[in-house]
Amino acid sequence: MRGINYDNKLILAPMVRVGTLPMRLLALDYGADIVYTEELIDWKFLKTVRRENDILGTVDFIDKSDGTVVFRTCNREKDKVVVQIGTCDANRALKVAKLIEDDIAGIDINMGCPKEFSLKGGMGAALLRDPEKAKEILTTLVKNVKIPVTCKIRVFENVDDTIWLVKQLASTGIAAIAVHGRTKQERPQHPNRNYMIKAIRENVNIPVIANGGSRQIEKYSDIEAFRQDCGASSVMIARTAQGNCSIFRSEGMKELDDVIVDYLKYAVDYDNSPNNTKYCVQNMLKELQETPTGKKFLECQTLEQICAIWNLAQYCRKKQLEYNEKGILGRRQISP
Ligand code: FNR
Repeated sequence: MRGINYDNKLILAPMVRVGTLPMRLLALDYGADIVYTEELIDWKFLKTVRRENDILGTVDFIDKSDGTVVFRTCNREKDKVVVQIGTCDANRALKVAKLIEDDIAGIDINMGCPKEFSLKGGMGAALLRDPEKAKEILTTLVKNVKIPVTCKIRVFENVDDTIWLVKQLASTGIAAIAVHGRTKQERPQHPNRNYMIKAIRENVNIPVIANGGSRQIEKYSDIEAFRQDCGASSVMIARTAQGNCSIFRSEGMKELDDVIVDYLKYAVDYDNSPNNTKYCVQNMLKELQETPTGKKFLECQTLEQICAIWNLAQYCRKKQLEYNEKGILGRRQISP
């Protein structure tokens, strides 16, 4: 079996619209060991066709009906990228896994999403209440794919119930489990149940990836403190990385403007859609959107306009010209 080891790793968490290729590459540059994609829904993936994009140097999974890129990846992340799938069906999940297993390092099943869209479809946190279905999905994948399979869960109120569930899931042969220490009902303002992650770790033999610590992770050394609090093997970070991805740097965080410049270069290099790029930068700027520069940024519609604010207009224009000369631009990544 090919693939990654989940022990002692720093991980970029799955984040819808945020975890597209530019952010994943940036996280790797800054020191993340493993990067998760945003959750991609199985049936959406199954409408795609795989295309090697020679202009961008990427592998694209393109929606056959509308031509949008559902998933874009490249060689640089091949041994580090974990694709998170939203699914409620073992066969569909397997078909997706087979479609992408040669281009990626691992497959993760989302069992923690509390959104109505997921719950109604029997996906995400709905699987926590349907352990037989969850096990069927994981077992089918573990038996039939070449790369490691993991899942990401939330906890129950009760420690014993949570440990029971994790033992069931671990029995399928998954390579690791990521645990967000909040219940399905809890929101980011609720404290993360680090003690629960610790209890899980003491009861299973696979690596436990601690998640939910962003409120206590403001600098690099906080990551290790969170890991120790949870007694976990590895740490997965979402919101702190969404705000400033350089949290993964052992040398310390970079100024936000420098992070945005680094991010925008990747957005240009990989022809990321202006919409997705704007969304990610907005999440970095947060309240700075109220400043004069922030307001100017909010009016931007093209990648070049966004880049101009950080003095990268020329960089953007040159690349786009280069790509246009080589052929039609690699199709854009459009996130839901
Ligand atoms: C998320 N989260 C999430 N989780 C998941 O399993 N799949 C996903 O696609 C997403 N999408 C997503 C988008 C955004 C914008 C945020 C902020 C969060 C949840 C995330 O991975 C993580 O579990 C929580 O945010 C808790 O970790 P932090 O933020 O405390 O590090």
